[in-house]
Amino acid sequence: MQITSQTGMLGLIGHPVAHSKSPDMMNCACRELGLPFVYLAFDIDPQELGQAVEGMKALKFRGFNVTIPHKVAVMDYLDELDESAKEIGAVNTVVENSGKWVGHNTDGIGYLRSLTEEIAVQLDQQRVVMLGAGGAARAVGFALATAGVERITVANRTLAKAEQLANHLAKWVKTEAIKLDEAQSHIAKATLLINTTSVGMHPNTDQLPIPADWLHAKLIVSDLIYHPRETDLLAAAKALGAKTHNGMGMLVHQAAEAFTLWMGQRPPVQQMKKVLEAALTASD
Ligand code: ATR
Repeated sequence: MQITSQTGMLGLIGHPVAHSKSPDMMNCACRELGLPFVYLAFDIDPQELGQAVEGMKALKFRGFNVTIPHKVAVMDYLDELDESAKEIGAVNTVVENSGKWVGHNTDGIGYLRSLTEEIAVQLDQQRVVMLGAGGAARAVGFALATAGVERITVANRTLAKAEQLANHLAKWVKTEAIKLDEAQSHIAKATLLINTTSVGMHPNTDQLPIPADWLHAKLIVSDLIYHPRETDLLAAAKALGAKTHNGMGMLVHQAAEAFTLWMGQRPPVQQMKKVLEAALTASD
């Protein structure tokens, strides 16, 4: 695609950002749809966040993504937050709307779209055990709770954080909070197990967040990790005959939702997936 004086701007701010595959996916989407936009990644120090956001406003970006460590701090520089950003307490997508800069969070809806696309799942019948209670768990928990799952058990190493998230999600769904090492009997009764912790992520790929013998064949086992594509948790679940779901789809769909907010049209998700797969393989 030719870059001209008419080319519009999109981007990502984070620290670091060199590993990000968002530019690969977003530029692929712009190319495929023939939209005259470029998407660049910017490594922004936390003390320069305000200046960076003001600069993007002045340069008339259509919008931008936000990643670690700026997802919470960026809210100070925005005019409005949508419901997802308010409830999750973090922003991953900023959209310019009639001169106002609005924060959204597409992580939860991205997760949900990926899960329902890959697995025939009846959401209202899901008894969910979610491992972890950090930022990713807040996004996924909000999406599942508002989509009407039957119950959510938050299992976390630090019980106080599990309690805090379970109390928040109780606005929409039956919840309970337990310690991670007490999750066995809850998993035995669950239909959907989701790992939102970083346990099992590259380079510590030989770790599992729970003992493999707590899994069973009737579970859907979902892991937000995409590096590696198949964690040891997913491999153990697959060996038992359980359905499995990895973090690749969430990565693509949170990007697709952000793109739709900026452009008012859905991007070619399958093409973005191919580009992501190639980019991840190249950096393995
Ligand atoms: P993210 O934004 O990726 O969710 P986070 O907000 O730092 O990251 O949350 C990390 C989650 O993984 C937390 O639930 C954390 O448990 P604690 O609240 O007890 O810290 C969990 N986690 C990280 N390392 C873990 C480990 N080795 N064992 C169990 N849980 C772990």
